[in-house]
Amino acid sequence: MVVTSNGEEVQAQVNPKYDRKSELKDFDDSKTGVKGLVDAGVSKIPRIFICEKNQLDNISTTSSVASQFSVPILDFEGLDGGAAQRGKIIEKVRDACEKWGFFQVVNHGIPGNVMGDMIDGVRRFYEQDTEVKKGFYSRDATRKFKYNSNFDLYEAPAANWRDTFACVMAPQSPDPQELPAVCRDILIEYSKHVMRLGLKLFELFSEALGLNPNHLKDMDCGEGLLVLGHYYPACPEPDLTLGTSNHADSGFFTILLQDQMGGLQILHENQWVDVPPLPGALLVNIADLLQLITNDKFKSVNHRVLAKNVGPRISVASFFRTHNHEGVTMRVYGPIKELLSEENPPVYKEITVKEYLTQYYKQGLDGTSKKRHNSSQKSNGIEEEAQFKPEYDRKSELKAFDDSQTGIKGLVHAGVTKIPRIFIHEKSQLSDTSTTSFVASLRNVPIIDIEGIHGSSAQRIEIIKKVKDACEKWVFFQVVNHGIPTCIMDDMIDGVQRFHEQDTEVKKGFYSRDKMRKFLCNSNCDLYESLAANWRDSFYCNTAPQPPDPQELLDECRDILAEYSKHIMRLGLLVFELLSEALGLNPDHLKDMGCAEGLYVIGHYYPACPEPDLTLGTSNHADNCFFTILLQDQMGGL
Ligand code: OGA
Ligand code: NI
Repeated sequence: MVVTSNGEEVQAQVNPKYDRKSELKDFDDSKTGVKGLVDAGVSKIPRIFICEKNQLDNISTTSSVASQFSVPILDFEGLDGGAAQRGKIIEKVRDACEKWGFFQVVNHGIPGNVMGDMIDGVRRFYEQDTEVKKGFYSRDATRKFKYNSNFDLYEAPAANWRDTFACVMAPQSPDPQELPAVCRDILIEYSKHVMRLGLKLFELFSEALGLNPNHLKDMDCGEGLLVLGHYYPACPEPDLTLGTSNHADSGFFTILLQDQMGGLQILHENQWVDVPPLPGALLVNIADLLQLITNDKFKSVNHRVLAKNVGPRISVASFFRTHNHEGVTMRVYGPIKELLSEENPPVYKEITVKEYLTQYYKQGLDGTSKKRHNSSQKSNGIEEEAQFKPEYDRKSELKAFDDSQTGIKGLVHAGVTKIPRIFIHEKSQLSDTSTTSFVASLRNVPIIDIEGIHGSSAQRIEIIKKVKDACEKWVFFQVVNHGIPTCIMDDMIDGVQRFHEQDTEVKKGFYSRDKMRKFLCNSNCDLYESLAANWRDSFYCNTAPQPPDPQELLDECRDILAEYSKHIMRLGLLVFELLSEALGLNPDHLKDMGCAEGLYVIGHYYPACPEPDLTLGTSNHADNCFFTILLQDQMGGL
């Protein structure tokens, strides 16, 4: 039960005293950050920094491939020269934002000595007298300047080998007295330059989107500036941790100044690509909110920083975004109307900056939310328990559950308050959303109206275009005006409910794992094969090519099942035509291949679960057929 791919958990058996929370707190209370550990001469990194192995994967496999790709380098020389020159640069900006989400800029207008002085200023801050530095250590969100190690220390699954200071420079810059003396002047000067360059970039981005140059500025995108000064000390065990975990940036975009140490990587076409330092250049990357308001035209790309056994590495990240405690955060952002059309419908919901930032900070850098993290600790507890309870016999528990023939409904009916162990999923199964960025969760699944499908051929072509787009980009889509009457759908949902809630003894008569039966019910078709059972009961019915003898069906849902299947078959045949045409084939192509011969209808029933953080209604899977038409009630969860 102990996951061996995870060094931490194995170690847990040997050292049961490990108390992550108090180690985090001790580290935080020291106020000396990662640099403090290195100064004290640690030769092994403390356990709180050890990353799960899968987070560190591919590090060694990238470099060979990395040479194939490199982040575009743009030269801003002549930007204000003439329209032709500017047009060429805008073209390159658009290309980089669409394909890479990242680019390096040279001749950006910020003098080399200002950049060099800024790096030195950050170094002076970290290398100043420890007691003075401790005075700035804080996690108070309202402070304009603060320093700490890992803003998400208590939320992230593993701490990063990095200390950071953060300073809100706009809309209101702090009173200079609030800034550390060792870097006060350069921080103010550098920020002024970065703000000027940032506003220029907002103009270029607006134009690259085909909008008027002031469009993004007029949306208040350029109001806020947050400057981070990162310090990555040399790490004695760089293979066990990261300098910065995989993340996408918050806000509209970021201007990054890095020294010559290297270590930054971006995720491009599923590969980690090194971003080698380029003397004199600044890096620009699109962040989540710009991806959202451009409706995915510009990409916010994930990136990370490796830990190295040399250092320190210093970087300065300037985020264009309004900050958490300003009034402007109530502004709502959604896809820009001018960029939308019938072919390019909004893929995101609107959100306020405040909601966005709250969610961003709750998740921590690698997007593993607090809630997930807590539940994973619970399931760690379970794994530890496994060592003390060797008598746990999974097979016989599965069999006992199956033999009851009453499914999960039976458990709930009996009033269980803890879910049986056979339903508990491994934490990795429950937290596999960690690589999905928060913006992704704001996406809308496409909705296709097929009302006009038998109308004019222009209408049909339009619908097929949407189907093609949805299948290529989304895999899932919702259909409205599909011709199945609402009353039939409602009756079908009711029929499924009636089946599962009927008299227990009658229902037991249908409980079976005999695949030859045309109609049967059970809990978890893969009960004995899967790693963990799902919190779901189901009935299964083969309704085509040969429907079951009506005698094999239950009175409670016989008629509606037959009726619903007839409608679904008709819709399914239409979908096969649309898919054929979307593939550029003749409408009957898929039907002629026999794809539409069979229809299998499953009626799922998901009872309320007393411990929803420990299990799933349905495990991660893809369907094993040509396609599926799903009818769901109003509860949500998919
Ligand atoms: C960031 C970031 C990269 C770096 O601050 O969001 O990605 O090189 N920094 O420090
Ligand atoms: Ni970043």
